[in-house]
Amino acid sequence: MSKEEEPFDPNDLPPKTLLNSEPLYQVRSLKTMISFILSQNTHKQYIFALISKSHDPYYLLQYILETSVYPREHECLKELRHITEKLPWHSIAIPPDEGQFLSMLVKLMNAKNTMEIGVYTGYSLLSTALALPPDGKILALDVNRRDYEIGLPMIQKAGVAHKIDFREGPALSFLDEMLKDQNNKGTLDFVFVDADKDNHLNYHKRLIELVKIGGVIGYDNTLWAGSVAAPTDAPKMGFFQPLRGFVIELNKYLAQDSRIEICQIPIGDGITLCRRLI
Ligand SMILES: C[S@@+](CC[C@H](N)C(=O)[O-])C[C@H]1O[C@@H](n2cnc3c(N)ncnc32)[C@H](O)[C@@H]1O
Repeated sequence: MSKEEEPFDPNDLPPKTLLNSEPLYQVRSLKTMISFILSQNTHKQYIFALISKSHDPYYLLQYILETSVYPREHECLKELRHITEKLPWHSIAIPPDEGQFLSMLVKLMNAKNTMEIGVYTGYSLLSTALALPPDGKILALDVNRRDYEIGLPMIQKAGVAHKIDFREGPALSFLDEMLKDQNNKGTLDFVFVDADKDNHLNYHKRLIELVKIGGVIGYDNTLWAGSVAAPTDAPKMGFFQPLRGFVIELNKYLAQDSRIEICQIPIGDGITLCRRLI
């Protein structure tokens, strides 16, 4: 029986998240991020007193997944998620609640001409492809075709492979090439960026010209497992330390960029939506 099919009983689970004294930003999840923020609050005892066990973010995330996400997850997305879970780097894929969010966003926007930077095995790509109309397009960029090909059979099975134009190579030089042609400017409805975090700001400086006015760019991992809110000398930052500064710089830049309206959403590892204004 897979994880999400097990009956959920909060009493079976240890109340570990809020009471854990270890820094929590080593685990990439909404649970960890919220727990970390709460652990920084000087009034945390008060907050703990208010939060019953059933309001622990860990249980809430489980509740959301089991009630609203897994039952609605497309069969091919579920299969792709299970295939990906067997890989050593599986946790870099977006979680299914974020996939559901992207799908809703793309439909609400009536997006048609889209781009994704950072494909991996394709969970976010398939979420978007399923949400697009039959003539919708995704230009999908990644330096690694091998991982994309692991998920490709699921994309084909879902009947949406015709919407995807996968290009292997560094995204930055691809964007620079696109910008040489004036006809590409202001043409994209939606872009999802989930690649090398040290380049997300460089992508923004180019994508702002490629997305149309009113179009949206979504940057993933803008909470970087909660580490963006951690003190610089915090111990055990581990995996997140080297790129933390780049994510903080991106967040500051986006907050002051008057060409866009922004909304930072704590789903998955945090996604910041940027709607082009001018
Ligand atoms: C976090 S994963 C993407 C996860 C994916 N969105 C999903 O939901 O499964 C980051 C991806 O970015 C790709 N990547 C890293 N550097 C890149 C670059 N310079 N240009 C394009 N892709 C890059 C990696 O190969 C990796 O597949």
